[in-house]
Amino acid sequence: MDDRIVTKEKLIDDEDLALRPETLCEYIGQKEVKENLDVFIKAAKMRDESLDHVLLYGPPGLGKTTLSYIIANEMGSHIKTASGPSIEKSGDLASLLSTLEPGDVLFIDEIHRIPRFIEEILYPAMEDFVLDIIVGSDATSRNIRIDLPPFTLVGATTRAGDLTSPLRDRFGIISKLNYYTVEELTQIVKRTSKVLECKITDDAANELATRSRGTPRIANRLLKRVRDFALVMGNGMIDLSITKLALDKLKVDSLGLDDTDYNLLKAIIERFNGGPVGIEALASSIGEEQTTIEDVYEPYLLQTGLLKRTSRGRVVTKQAYDHLQIPYPNKLES
Ligand SMILES: Nc1ncnc2c1ncn2[C@@H]1O[C@H](COP(=O)(O)OP(=O)(O)O)[C@@H](O)[C@H]1O
Ligand SMILES: [Mg+2]
Repeated sequence: MDDRIVTKEKLIDDEDLALRPETLCEYIGQKEVKENLDVFIKAAKMRDESLDHVLLYGPPGLGKTTLSYIIANEMGSHIKTASGPSIEKSGDLASLLSTLEPGDVLFIDEIHRIPRFIEEILYPAMEDFVLDIIVGSDATSRNIRIDLPPFTLVGATTRAGDLTSPLRDRFGIISKLNYYTVEELTQIVKRTSKVLECKITDDAANELATRSRGTPRIANRLLKRVRDFALVMGNGMIDLSITKLALDKLKVDSLGLDDTDYNLLKAIIERFNGGPVGIEALASSIGEEQTTIEDVYEPYLLQTGLLKRTSRGRVVTKQAYDHLQIPYPNKLES
């Protein structure tokens, strides 16, 4: 376990369970996604049908797994979970599918990582609720077709672009989750502090929200750490000054940037003259995996306008120089 504040997404985290909202009503933010899902769920229930397949995409920690559980809960059905990388053989997927009961939700996290030859099993399963499998070997092998109960596949991915189009086309509902506003995150922080039974002032909740990079998972994680500081160094109450102190100690800056963000921006400025720089060179220069940069760090840096992607590579903006308090070079002169 590393103790970084920003990490790649995990499947359900035990400590997390209590913090997860269980109904659409309790799920804060993502207004459009929520309103649409509410209609589709109600309609499916009125028709007594399973909900159409749902694809949720967006950066880690924005609530995709949470929403999948809510969908199952609102449909009044059970959820079975798996993740793309854990499905290695066609048999893995076949056995998952064959345990489904009518109306069940099958949640596949990181669905873009299912190998292509296995993915093809999903096409008839999603479209016609049938499972085509091959039994026997070589000369004696034959195809058999097994009927599946109607079910809902909920796929989650940080990279919708990596999904093949035949797979993407089979989702009737495709929803993108966006970074949360400070107001929404403030509500989430307050809700979590209630669950954790700790007191937090309004300005402290707002400060935490501002520094959580638009991400509920980070807001919750930071809240827990700030709570520790409040307990040990204060009187247990989370106020603005203890929050600022704790976040500074955790090296989370005013925009929510951490050490890796700094390394990344500084590397582009100092070693690549502000960019453009290709992702491979950047990744090896700071010793991070390319996918970690692309899925975890970059989306937020792009969103805040500190980084830009151009056809020739990543470029740091003037705003980033200003934020890092590094003088902006006038490139036209040099
Ligand atoms: N809309 C929301 N309202 C309240 N809490 C949320 C919301 N979205 C996410 N969370 C919390 O943030 C954490 C991360 O959410 P998760 O569903 O695991 O994200 P993802 O699967 O997209 O990586 C969970 O602890 C969850 O309780
Ligand atoms: Mg998840």
